[in-house]
Amino acid sequence: MYRLKRLIIVTGANKGLGKAFYDRFISEKNEDIIISISRIISEDQQQLIDKKSSKFVFIPIDLGQMQDTSGLKQLVNFQNEVKEIIYINNAGVIDPIGKVGDIAIKELVNSINVNILAPAIIINYVFELFKGKKITIVNISSGAADHVIEGWGAYCSGKAFMKMFLNVLGEQEKDSSLIEVYNISPGLIDTEMQRKIRDTNVDGFTRHNEFVLFKEEGKLQSAKEVANKILLETNISP
Ligand SMILES: NC(=O)c1ccc[n+]([C@@H]2O[C@H](COP(=O)([O-])OP(=O)(O)OC[C@H]3O[C@@H](n4cnc5c(N)ncnc54)[C@H](OP(=O)(O)O)[C@@H]3O)[C@@H](O)[C@H]2O)c1
Repeated sequence: MYRLKRLIIVTGANKGLGKAFYDRFISEKNEDIIISISRIISEDQQQLIDKKSSKFVFIPIDLGQMQDTSGLKQLVNFQNEVKEIIYINNAGVIDPIGKVGDIAIKELVNSINVNILAPAIIINYVFELFKGKKITIVNISSGAADHVIEGWGAYCSGKAFMKMFLNVLGEQEKDSSLIEVYNISPGLIDTEMQRKIRDTNVDGFTRHNEFVLFKEEGKLQSAKEVANKILLETNISP
């Protein structure tokens, strides 16, 4: 089936769920271009860059430091080339975990930057740059956007912010057939984020033991199965 050339942008595609999305997209033989925005590049991604693959572009950005769109200038190169843009807002941080009163300010600032500010800047820029094209935004949200988890003040509120930001965007674009916006709560995934949660047994994180048991009882899904489920749910063909 003929399909319009797509630009697929994934944040945090070097590991965890983001890497599972990347693996799925990169294995397809089509004209799509996959862009990873992250600090670190995986070994197999580096090999593609070394081979000068036209299918993969790495934009190195520390989302914790992002203040404006200057790091995203490369996206301008694709303005005329692609007809459709998919942005998967995946990168995220769980820290700081702990009681309000014990929070390290540096971690709080990083959380707000990575989980809120950077994705809001990127989404705003994608809409500015690719106006008039088909745009799909997939926000990897969490049950924490709607449910209070003691000790997770920054993470819960960051997820709640992005969910509302996209709900407002969805309302703005409700009459457009070109724009699709999804907030997806993926459930528990066996990634470094879950390992970090198990490793953080601090005062105020009252559900710590529950998260240890999720792993021990095999309740974590693989990143690959979650990525596949989300693509089905959002009608995105890889
Ligand atoms: N795991 C779960 O059970 C679960 C459940 C619900 C929702 N989620 C959500 O799913 C998404 C993916 O999480 P995951 O479980 O795959 O976590 P992960 O394995 O910890 O991966 C997080 C990704 O975010 C990137 N990232 C973090 N800080 C960054 C920064 N400053 N600049 C650029 N990239 C940065 C990481 O890259 P670096 O290697 O550079 O750190 C990594 O690629 C997150 O939004 C998370 O909130 C996860």
